[in-house]
Amino acid sequence: MSAAARDLLSGVRVAPSILSADFGRLREQVGEVLQAGARVIHVDVMDGHFVPPITVGPLIVAGLAEQARDAGAILEVHLMIERPERQVGEFVKAGAHSVTFHAEATPHVAYAASLIREHGACVGVAINPGTPVGALAEVAPAIDVALCMTVNPGWGGQQFIEHSLQKIERVRAIVGDAVAVEVDGGIAADTAPQCREAGASVFVAGSAIFAGDDPGEAYRAIARSVDAA
Ligand code: DX5
Ligand code: ZN
Repeated sequence: MSAAARDLLSGVRVAPSILSADFGRLREQVGEVLQAGARVIHVDVMDGHFVPPITVGPLIVAGLAEQARDAGAILEVHLMIERPERQVGEFVKAGAHSVTFHAEATPHVAYAASLIREHGACVGVAINPGTPVGALAEVAPAIDVALCMTVNPGWGGQQFIEHSLQKIERVRAIVGDAVAVEVDGGIAADTAPQCREAGASVFVAGSAIFAGDDPGEAYRAIARSVDAA
Protein backbone atom coordinates (compact mmCIF):
# COMPACT_ATOMS: atom_id res chain seq x y z
CA MET A 1 0.00 0.00 0.00
CA SER A 2 2.88 2.31 0.69
CA ALA A 3 3.75 2.51 -3.04
CA ALA A 4 0.19 3.41 -4.01
CA ALA A 5 0.03 5.95 -1.19
CA ARG A 6 3.35 7.46 -2.25
CA ASP A 7 2.07 7.69 -5.78
CA LEU A 8 -1.04 9.57 -4.67
CA LEU A 9 0.91 11.88 -2.41
CA SER A 10 3.44 12.72 -5.09
CA GLY A 11 0.79 14.44 -7.22
CA VAL A 12 -0.99 17.74 -6.70
CA ARG A 13 -3.75 16.87 -4.21
CA VAL A 14 -6.35 18.51 -2.07
CA ALA A 15 -6.80 16.56 1.17
CA PRO A 16 -10.09 17.21 2.99
CA SER A 17 -9.58 17.33 6.77
CA ILE A 18 -12.46 15.67 8.59
CA LEU A 19 -11.82 17.86 11.65
CA SER A 20 -14.53 20.24 10.45
CA ALA A 21 -16.93 17.49 9.31
CA ASP A 22 -20.17 16.63 11.10
CA PHE A 23 -19.12 13.50 13.01
CA GLY A 24 -22.73 12.40 13.31
CA ARG A 25 -22.72 12.06 9.51
CA LEU A 26 -19.05 11.29 9.01
CA ARG A 27 -19.45 8.44 6.53
CA GLU A 28 -21.84 10.46 4.40
CA GLN A 29 -19.63 13.56 4.40
CA VAL A 30 -16.49 11.59 3.55
CA GLY A 31 -18.51 9.91 0.81
CA GLU A 32 -19.32 13.30 -0.69
CA VAL A 33 -15.68 14.36 -1.02
CA LEU A 34 -14.63 10.94 -2.32
CA GLN A 35 -17.39 11.20 -4.89
CA ALA A 36 -16.09 14.66 -5.86
CA GLY A 37 -12.65 13.18 -6.52
CA ALA A 38 -10.73 13.42 -3.24
CA ARG A 39 -8.16 10.64 -2.88
CA VAL A 40 -6.40 11.72 0.30
CA ILE A 41 -8.48 11.98 3.48
CA HIS A 42 -6.74 13.87 6.30
CA VAL A 43 -7.45 12.75 9.88
CA ASP A 44 -6.32 15.08 12.69
CA VAL A 45 -5.36 13.34 15.92
CA MET A 46 -4.92 15.58 18.98
CA ASP A 47 -4.00 14.41 22.47
CA GLY A 48 -4.78 17.32 24.79
CA HIS A 49 -1.06 17.75 25.51
CA PHE A 50 0.84 18.64 22.35
CA VAL A 51 -2.21 20.76 21.52
CA PRO A 52 -5.07 21.50 23.95
CA PRO A 53 -7.95 19.74 22.14
CA ILE A 54 -8.56 16.00 22.13
CA THR A 55 -9.99 14.59 18.92
CA VAL A 56 -9.94 11.04 17.58
CA GLY A 57 -7.81 7.91 17.70
CA PRO A 58 -7.26 4.67 15.79
CA LEU A 59 -10.92 3.61 16.10
CA ILE A 60 -12.05 6.36 13.74
CA VAL A 61 -9.20 5.56 11.36
CA ALA A 62 -10.31 1.93 11.34
CA GLY A 63 -13.91 3.03 10.79
CA LEU A 64 -12.97 4.93 7.62
CA ALA A 65 -10.43 2.47 6.21
CA GLU A 66 -12.81 0.35 4.14
CA GLN A 67 -14.67 3.33 2.70
CA ALA A 68 -11.38 4.92 1.62
CA ARG A 69 -10.02 1.70 0.17
CA ASP A 70 -13.19 1.06 -1.85
CA ALA A 71 -12.80 4.51 -3.44
CA GLY A 72 -9.10 4.02 -4.19
CA ALA A 73 -8.26 6.69 -1.63
CA ILE A 74 -5.82 6.80 1.27
CA LEU A 75 -6.05 7.91 4.88
CA GLU A 76 -3.42 10.37 5.96
CA VAL A 77 -3.16 10.69 9.73
CA HIS A 78 -1.78 13.95 11.14
CA LEU A 79 -0.62 13.25 14.67
CA MET A 80 -0.59 16.26 16.96
CA ILE A 81 0.47 14.16 19.93
CA GLU A 82 3.49 14.01 22.19
CA ARG A 83 5.96 11.15 21.76
CA PRO A 84 4.37 9.88 18.53
CA GLU A 85 6.81 6.97 18.33
CA ARG A 86 4.69 5.25 20.98
CA GLN A 87 1.56 5.33 18.83
CA VAL A 88 2.47 5.25 15.16
CA GLY A 89 2.26 1.46 14.83
CA GLU A 90 -1.26 1.42 16.16
CA PHE A 91 -2.41 3.96 13.58
CA VAL A 92 -0.87 2.03 10.69
CA LYS A 93 -2.51 -1.17 11.94
CA ALA A 94 -5.84 0.70 12.09
CA GLY A 95 -5.54 1.55 8.38
CA ALA A 96 -3.46 4.72 8.03
CA HIS A 97 -1.58 4.74 4.72
CA SER A 98 0.50 7.75 5.65
CA VAL A 99 1.39 9.01 9.12
CA THR A 100 2.67 12.51 9.81
CA PHE A 101 4.03 13.51 13.21
CA HIS A 102 5.46 16.77 14.55
CA ALA A 103 9.19 17.34 14.78
CA GLU A 104 8.52 19.31 17.99
CA ALA A 105 6.78 16.37 19.64
CA THR A 106 9.71 14.02 20.07
CA PRO A 107 13.48 14.05 20.51
CA HIS A 108 13.48 10.95 18.26
CA VAL A 109 12.39 12.26 14.88
CA ALA A 110 14.52 9.84 12.83
CA TYR A 111 13.44 6.88 14.97
CA ALA A 112 9.73 7.74 14.71
CA ALA A 113 10.13 8.09 10.93
CA SER A 114 11.82 4.69 10.67
CA LEU A 115 9.08 3.04 12.75
CA ILE A 116 6.37 4.33 10.39
CA ARG A 117 8.39 3.06 7.43
CA GLU A 118 8.83 -0.37 9.04
CA HIS A 119 5.08 -0.62 9.54
CA GLY A 120 4.65 -0.04 5.81
CA ALA A 121 3.15 3.45 5.65
CA CYS A 122 4.35 6.70 4.10
CA VAL A 123 6.21 9.02 6.42
CA GLY A 124 5.42 12.66 7.05
CA VAL A 125 7.10 15.17 9.35
CA ALA A 126 5.30 18.39 10.28
CA ILE A 127 6.68 21.67 11.57
CA ASN A 128 4.81 24.42 13.41
CA PRO A 129 4.84 28.03 12.19
CA GLY A 130 7.53 28.95 14.74
CA THR A 131 9.82 26.02 13.95
CA PRO A 132 12.76 26.71 11.61
CA VAL A 133 12.79 24.70 8.38
CA GLY A 134 16.16 23.24 9.35
CA ALA A 135 14.24 20.77 11.56
CA LEU A 136 13.49 18.88 8.33
CA ALA A 137 17.00 18.83 6.91
CA GLU A 138 18.46 15.69 8.46
CA VAL A 139 15.38 13.53 7.90
CA ALA A 140 14.50 14.77 4.40
CA PRO A 141 15.95 11.66 2.68
CA ALA A 142 13.83 9.42 4.92
CA ILE A 143 10.41 11.04 4.47
CA ASP A 144 7.67 11.24 1.84
CA VAL A 145 5.86 14.35 3.08
CA ALA A 146 7.02 17.59 4.69
CA LEU A 147 4.04 19.31 6.31
CA CYS A 148 4.45 23.04 6.75
CA MET A 149 1.77 24.24 9.18
CA THR A 150 0.23 27.47 7.92
CA VAL A 151 -1.61 28.08 11.23
CA ASN A 152 -0.73 27.05 14.76
CA PRO A 153 -2.02 23.48 15.14
CA GLY A 154 -5.03 22.59 17.25
CA TRP A 155 -8.08 24.17 15.66
CA GLY A 156 -9.84 24.44 12.35
CA GLY A 157 -11.07 27.71 10.89
CA GLN A 158 -8.03 29.87 11.66
CA GLN A 159 -6.62 32.49 9.35
CA PHE A 160 -3.76 31.55 7.03
CA ILE A 161 -0.41 32.98 8.20
CA GLU A 162 0.83 35.02 5.22
CA HIS A 163 4.46 34.71 6.22
CA SER A 164 4.12 30.97 5.46
CA LEU A 165 4.57 31.65 1.74
CA GLN A 166 8.28 32.40 2.09
CA LYS A 167 8.64 29.50 4.49
CA ILE A 168 7.13 27.06 1.98
CA GLU A 169 9.83 28.12 -0.48
CA ARG A 170 12.49 27.36 2.13
CA VAL A 171 10.91 23.99 2.94
CA ARG A 172 10.88 23.06 -0.76
CA ALA A 173 14.53 24.10 -1.10
CA ILE A 174 15.52 21.90 1.87
CA VAL A 175 13.57 18.73 1.03
CA GLY A 176 14.01 18.76 -2.74
CA ASP A 177 11.59 17.52 -5.39
CA ALA A 178 11.25 13.92 -4.21
CA VAL A 179 9.29 14.93 -1.09
CA ALA A 180 5.71 16.22 -1.15
CA VAL A 181 5.35 19.63 0.49
CA GLU A 182 2.00 19.84 2.26
CA VAL A 183 0.29 22.88 3.75
CA ASP A 184 -2.35 22.77 6.47
CA GLY A 185 -4.33 25.62 7.99
CA GLY A 186 -6.38 28.38 6.41
CA ILE A 187 -6.27 26.71 2.99
CA ALA A 188 -9.07 27.68 0.58
CA ALA A 189 -9.44 28.53 -3.11
CA ASP A 190 -7.61 31.87 -2.58
CA THR A 191 -4.65 30.72 -0.43
CA ALA A 192 -4.04 27.33 -2.09
CA PRO A 193 -2.77 28.76 -5.42
CA GLN A 194 -0.38 31.08 -3.57
CA CYS A 195 1.00 28.08 -1.69
CA ARG A 196 1.30 26.13 -4.91
CA GLU A 197 3.26 28.99 -6.44
CA ALA A 198 5.59 28.85 -3.42
CA GLY A 199 6.20 25.12 -3.92
CA ALA A 200 3.47 23.21 -2.07
CA SER A 201 1.83 20.19 -3.71
CA VAL A 202 -0.63 18.81 -1.13
CA PHE A 203 -3.29 21.11 0.28
CA VAL A 204 -5.21 20.23 3.44
CA ALA A 205 -8.55 21.98 3.82
CA GLY A 206 -11.00 21.51 6.67
CA SER A 207 -13.47 24.33 7.25
CA ALA A 208 -13.27 25.51 3.63
CA ILE A 209 -14.70 22.12 2.63
CA PHE A 210 -16.89 20.96 5.51
CA ALA A 211 -18.20 24.20 7.06
CA GLY A 212 -20.59 24.86 4.14
CA ASP A 213 -23.48 22.75 2.97
CA ASP A 214 -21.85 21.23 -0.15
CA PRO A 215 -18.50 19.62 0.74
CA GLY A 216 -18.18 18.03 -2.71
CA GLU A 217 -18.48 21.35 -4.56
CA ALA A 218 -16.19 23.08 -2.04
CA TYR A 219 -13.60 20.35 -2.62
CA ARG A 220 -13.85 20.79 -6.39
CA ALA A 221 -13.41 24.58 -6.14
CA ILE A 222 -10.13 24.22 -4.24
CA ALA A 223 -8.97 21.38 -6.51
CA ARG A 224 -9.61 23.59 -9.56
CA SER A 225 -7.71 26.48 -7.98
CA VAL A 226 -4.49 24.41 -7.95
CA ASP A 227 -5.18 22.14 -10.95
CA ALA A 228 -5.22 19.14 -8.62
CA ALA A 229 -5.54 15.65 -10.06
C1 DX5 B 1 -5.42 21.99 12.58
C2 DX5 B 1 -5.43 20.78 11.69
C3 DX5 B 1 -6.00 21.03 10.35
C4 DX5 B 1 -7.39 21.64 10.32
C5 DX5 B 1 -7.31 22.73 9.31
O1 DX5 B 1 -4.44 21.89 13.55
O2 DX5 B 1 -4.17 20.22 11.51
O3 DX5 B 1 -5.92 19.89 9.49
O4 DX5 B 1 -8.43 20.77 10.00
O5 DX5 B 1 -8.47 23.44 9.36
P1 DX5 B 1 -8.79 24.63 8.36
O6 DX5 B 1 -8.64 24.11 6.98
O7 DX5 B 1 -10.17 25.00 8.74
O8 DX5 B 1 -7.79 25.73 8.67
ZN1 ZN C 1 -4.06 18.58 9.99
